[in-house]
Amino acid sequence: MSFVTRRRAMEAPHHEGDHKLKATLGWAHLMALGIGAIIGTGIYTLTGVAAGLAGPAVILSFAVAGAVCACAALCYAEMATLMPQAGSAYTYSYVTLGEMAAWVIGWSLILEYTLVCSAVAVGWAGYASGLIQQAGWPVPAYLLSGPEAGGLVNLPAVFIALLVTSLLLVGTRESATVNFILVCVKLVALAAFVALTLPSFDAGHFTPFAPFGFGAQDVDGTKFGVMGAAAIIFFAFYGFDAISTAAEEAKNPRRDLTIGIVGSMVACTLIYMIVAAVALGASPYDVFSKSEEPLAFILRELNQPVAASLIAGAAVIAMPTVIMVFMFGQSRVFFAMARDGLLPRSLARVNKRGVPSAVTILTGVIAAIIAGALPLSQIAALANAGTLAAFIATILAVMVLRRRAPTLERLFKTPAIWLIGPLGLVGCVYLFSSLTAKTMLFFFAWNAIGVAVYLLYGRAKSRLA
Ligand code: ALA
Repeated sequence: MSFVTRRRAMEAPHHEGDHKLKATLGWAHLMALGIGAIIGTGIYTLTGVAAGLAGPAVILSFAVAGAVCACAALCYAEMATLMPQAGSAYTYSYVTLGEMAAWVIGWSLILEYTLVCSAVAVGWAGYASGLIQQAGWPVPAYLLSGPEAGGLVNLPAVFIALLVTSLLLVGTRESATVNFILVCVKLVALAAFVALTLPSFDAGHFTPFAPFGFGAQDVDGTKFGVMGAAAIIFFAFYGFDAISTAAEEAKNPRRDLTIGIVGSMVACTLIYMIVAAVALGASPYDVFSKSEEPLAFILRELNQPVAASLIAGAAVIAMPTVIMVFMFGQSRVFFAMARDGLLPRSLARVNKRGVPSAVTILTGVIAAIIAGALPLSQIAALANAGTLAAFIATILAVMVLRRRAPTLERLFKTPAIWLIGPLGLVGCVYLFSSLTAKTMLFFFAWNAIGVAVYLLYGRAKSRLA
């Protein structure tokens, strides 16, 4: 069989000793991992960016992005329960679409996960910088933002990326417990935001509703309109996919993964619709869209400075859960690719605590460098491109497997797959086409490098070779 089409067996390759992950996570931990990964910079910061691109119609952008993610989440649940293995979309592609496609998806996931960590670090830094400035700490402004925003380096973003890396090195179980507590903080903060801003709701803020139209319109390299904003706010919804990378560490993968993936996705979509609607009702979109900490900004505008600081504090304490889950997911994708021989096996080695330490450190350092230098919207857009590729692969994997192995026992089945699947695919492709030309160029360049690496290394070193 050619290297392009050779496929891995559905069972995880057996490994002894230092290449085995420990099963320590229950459904509550997985659901918290999901919510921990989903609610972050998207709702806390990108709501402002997206509102600036679409106006009040950003509510529709949320709906479009949420619908695409819902289709993908159902497919992820089906695949993750069928193949509870590390590697997520990479592994599903390897089993169904072949080694070459799997490599491209794995390579895209590496891009996605690293950039999500960077993007969330930058979003975190927006809230942290606000608090630093309010506290009157003498930190020079040029150390609080990257070169494109007129500074030298975004030091808070670098700091948080490295701090989370250190925490992950302590071990999976410990990190999941910390994550659980922080998820509660994040949810309470959003609930408090809604409760405090709802009394100031002004329906007048919703007109004109769609000042930049529906389709993505390019203005000086930025895509405006409902779809332009959807392609960015899409960032807010994913994270459930990262749970599937923890599949091998789930105690009861079949039941717990379904609850974790679908449950966290549904819960977060509801929360987002409410928070976004309330934010738009409380403040004109063109005012809060310019802030790097829009939710705290809105509260300050409403003359609630203490609440603003508390929300910012909660964001600062809790947003790192997103980085934590994505770094965790990243290390598991590396782990799966290295175990299959496509990346050096030294990367897959886990330490005494069951953590793949080399890859965790590598991801953390690269994410920190990117976070220190680049602006949020660019990082998020590129992360979205990688995620969309992974979603497309997972939806295709479900459809291919339904044809190829119709009688396979599936504990979770995506309902109406021949409707949900194509709808999800069209949505992903449309969102991808709504990204800026620069983002697409970067994405394809990254994958061109990936294909070269594969031809030089993975093709020959693959376990299937
Ligand atoms: N959904 C995650 C966030 O919004 C990536 O931060």
